[in-house]
Amino acid sequence: MIVFYGPYSSKLGEKMAKQLNAKSMGIEHKIFPDGESYIRVPINVKGENVLLIQSTYPNQDKRIIELLLMIDALKDLGAEKVKVIVPYMAYARQDARFREGEAISIRTILKLIEAAGADEFFTVDIHKEFSLDILKIKAKNIMAVNAIAEFLRNMDLKSPFILSPDRGGLERARILGEKLGLEFGYFEKTRDRISGAITMRGEKIEFNGRDVVIVDDVISTGGTIATACRIAKEGRAGKVIAICTHALLINNAVEKMRLAGVDDIIATDTVEGEFSKITVAHLLAREVQ
Ligand code: R5P
Repeated sequence: MIVFYGPYSSKLGEKMAKQLNAKSMGIEHKIFPDGESYIRVPINVKGENVLLIQSTYPNQDKRIIELLLMIDALKDLGAEKVKVIVPYMAYARQDARFREGEAISIRTILKLIEAAGADEFFTVDIHKEFSLDILKIKAKNIMAVNAIAEFLRNMDLKSPFILSPDRGGLERARILGEKLGLEFGYFEKTRDRISGAITMRGEKIEFNGRDVVIVDDVISTGGTIATACRIAKEGRAGKVIAICTHALLINNAVEKMRLAGVDDIIATDTVEGEFSKITVAHLLAREVQ
């Protein structure tokens, strides 16, 4: 098996290859002056089983086009099987027609990945697992919660409370809480579909100095975590730790969370960056063998 990685997934690709004891290599890529993407598979892949890993952030549209070009090139060059791993699947939050006339973006992207020739598809903590139902090929969503639990177990926290900032993430908080034997709960969040503004109501939780771990799938603008942190602090939370699978951290997200009182930001390496302290390499390697 050969592990190929695209731009921005090199560290995770190398780690996975190590776990799998497989050869690994970056796919050649560049961007032409007019913005078009160029892709080249650097070795002969005829008859090979290939693992292709490419996250779709930053610059989602570019990463998706590259992904499609890479899959199609690998198949066209004779790869026997192409298993595609997209650690962070962009567009997954648009999984329904929330307003009349909207594109159901994640469905379109997944259909394109399948049409390009992917034989199997793996992702991590996709916003809603049902999105994968559109695929006819084998598809699996891998939960990062085991890796997150391992990390939290080794942190020195004071009687931590696991908090989901919205009802949608309660299942994640529950699994994490149960794995670690910790209390968990959630806030109620609504987002204005046009302005994007969020409103959050916290069930009255009195933290009495206990540390609070806010867990979410994505941190994008940091608004959700900042709001949840403020409510937690009003409930006399001790330290507040923000932990997520995919840290996009748009613009001043980090500053926004820090100003709200977040003490630590921790993420996995589905999006590689300053805060990706938890690796999902072993979870992915286990699934794709
Ligand atoms: C939404 O339902 C997601 O689970 C996250 O809570 C959301 O995407 C975070 O976005 P932001 O950081 O912009 O508030």
